[in-house]
Amino acid sequence: MTPTIHARKQEHVEIARHSKDADRRKYYFDAIKLTHRALPEIDYDNINPGTRFLQKPLTFPLLISSMTGGTGEDLAFINRNLAIAANATGIAFATGSMRILLEDPAALPAFALREIAPDVPFCGNIGAIQMNYGITPDQIAKLADQTKIDAIFLHLNPLQEASQPEGQTRFSNLLPKMEALAKTLPIPVIVKEVGSGISPADAKRIIEAGIQHIEIAGAGGTSWSRIEYERDRAPDNPGQCFEDWGIPTPDALLHLHPFRKQVRLIASGGVRTGIDMAKACILGASLCGIARPLLEPACHTAGAVIEQVQRLRREFTTAMFLLGTPTLNDLIDNHSLLLS
Ligand SMILES: Cc1cc2nc3c(=O)[nH]c(=O)nc-3n(C[C@H](O)[C@H](O)[C@H](O)COP(=O)(O)O)c2cc1C
Repeated sequence: MTPTIHARKQEHVEIARHSKDADRRKYYFDAIKLTHRALPEIDYDNINPGTRFLQKPLTFPLLISSMTGGTGEDLAFINRNLAIAANATGIAFATGSMRILLEDPAALPAFALREIAPDVPFCGNIGAIQMNYGITPDQIAKLADQTKIDAIFLHLNPLQEASQPEGQTRFSNLLPKMEALAKTLPIPVIVKEVGSGISPADAKRIIEAGIQHIEIAGAGGTSWSRIEYERDRAPDNPGQCFEDWGIPTPDALLHLHPFRKQVRLIASGGVRTGIDMAKACILGASLCGIARPLLEPACHTAGAVIEQVQRLRREFTTAMFLLGTPTLNDLIDNHSLLLS
């Protein structure tokens, strides 16, 4: 029997929270060495890690990447805590897939968070593959309207679908539908993966389709094939074999470097510290996304999420101090900071 979207989301959240194998723990950013400045010639207090995203200010370049939402109070609770924390700390926030909202209006409280996060970029999410299974640009526009989001993340997840017992794997002719959506929707469409990364060939096609933001969601952190394997555990489920599949996030950034002026690159997938964030910015990202590490705190309180975000900001600012870079412009795409 096919599980409901709600039941599947709850299983995903449970496994993501409690299975240590849900995270690959590859720490690919550790291989990148930076040039420490013993003489930074700047004052810590004068460092400004602030930036803008979707025409709104951020205190530093962090996005809470897409995770959840649904009909249950538990999922709404997680999203409310994330939204409160994003607004309190001045960072961007994206909900998980809003597909359930097309089927069940009871899911609205988990996604209608604009009033909780009025000051920061607040975004929605839906699987691009849904457009090959009947969801139309008009329906997506209605979701955007109902929730007052600033942008929508369109996720590409072929590995996850291929490892999911009830997976939807008809990926042919998806790009023209993504292009049509980007042309008609009044808000930006941001294309993302969910943990296997975006290749240069795909980035080129995505950019040619008129899309101006890409969230890499590369390999290194949360493994969706592993999570689907944990749900299914059938002997022929490929999810365990493919748990490390994908382009490591720092490699994806290096390979997408030629496109950095045409598209805004959001680095995510295994970003775990403010040092990882600084490295991602040096490699060309103008924003970094973190998902699973913020899930557990969000299951408790908004304050617990705020604590994690403040830790990340302190780490990121300290890295900027030790690299002698007073502003984000001094950091982003500055390859001279890499230790050659
Ligand atoms: C519990 C959970 C639910 C997720 N749900 C979605 C989703 O609905 N849509 C989506 O695009 N990505 C989803 N993701 C993927 C994340 O946005 C992110 O791309 C991925 O987890 C890699 O980042 P991380 O290593 O920091 O977790 C989810 C991740 C987690 C942990």
